[in-house]
Amino acid sequence: MKRAWLLLLCAAPLLPHETLTTTVLFDREIVRILDRHCVMCHAAGGPTFPLETFDQTWLKKREIHAETIARHMPPWPAVPGYGQFANDNSLTLRESQFIISWVEGLGPRNSGTVFLNVTGPDAARPPEVRAHADFGHWQLGEPEAKYKVTPLIDLGLKTARPLRAIEYLPSDHRNIRSATFKVKETGQWIGSWTPWYGYMSLPNGRVFVLPAGAHIVAEVQYKGSPPADQGEIGLHFAQVPATARAMAGDLVLPAKLTAATSVIALRVEPATGTKSVEVSARKPNGATEILLFAKEFSPEWPTPFILKTPVALPAGTELRVAGAARVTVSRY
Ligand code: HEC
Repeated sequence: MKRAWLLLLCAAPLLPHETLTTTVLFDREIVRILDRHCVMCHAAGGPTFPLETFDQTWLKKREIHAETIARHMPPWPAVPGYGQFANDNSLTLRESQFIISWVEGLGPRNSGTVFLNVTGPDAARPPEVRAHADFGHWQLGEPEAKYKVTPLIDLGLKTARPLRAIEYLPSDHRNIRSATFKVKETGQWIGSWTPWYGYMSLPNGRVFVLPAGAHIVAEVQYKGSPPADQGEIGLHFAQVPATARAMAGDLVLPAKLTAATSVIALRVEPATGTKSVEVSARKPNGATEILLFAKEFSPEWPTPFILKTPVALPAGTELRVAGAARVTVSRY
């Protein structure tokens, strides 16, 4: 017994010497990574344990190291290098390296000068550097129209209206996982919500046409039971005539394009047990472009793949899917 105890005591100082130094600091690099990629979930009032302060993060640093190397956190199924997505929340290589270096360097807070020689009352100290969750306000600005979220939302539209963006503001972040919004009358997808990307804003002046009398079907996924107050959606309308720059109807793959098409988003519903899904476009000249390669789908955090810039494809292009999944494309 005594010997085992001694071995344990000796284990910690056996780390190689070079792991004890790092130039990466919590107050500088790490807090920015937490702000950008983590606190939308890891925060007081969010769905899981907070990673907002130095103490909270320092205590979890071994787990953070492991999750970063395994690419488990933040959840994002698309493999880097195949298509660029506006709602990609994965760590860049540089950010992953910062985290690994910080943990292996034993997690320094700052360069050591900030808190030295401060002996006065707390009020005299510089404010603690910490990450901040950005819940509870409209990212796209005040919407033109707001509606309480129910499974079927009557928009009360007397005429067709061109919609350029939709945003969702949940009432409570602890329980919610994701949301999807579709137009009941046309079946068209008009937006989704995930903790890290809460809106859909159309590129190049494009609009979804909401027909007169339209309803929005809201599918909100919770971990537990839905709260009484399910928050609000906000709609941003455009000034163009309703059909001038209208999005085309959603396309279910596989499909052959009969006209030139720009793809703006892909939605993937993997069958249970599907390991990976690849969506590719084979153009009439024989060139093939991979639009999406995704694996390790997390059923808990479903997400659309919103392209950073629309992908233009000529008529005659064949859109193919490898892997068991229903894939739907939003396009104009
Ligand atoms: C979309 C929400 C979401 C985002 C974004 C997210 N996480 Fe998580 N994370 C979770 C959930 C949920 C769990 C599971 C917690 C549990 O088991 O109760 C988790 C678990 C973890 C764990 C495992 C904890 C353990 O004890 O093993 C670590 C470490 C972690 N997250 C770090 C991070 C870091 C670092 C980031 C940002 C770079 C991040 N997460 C981004 C939702 C998220």
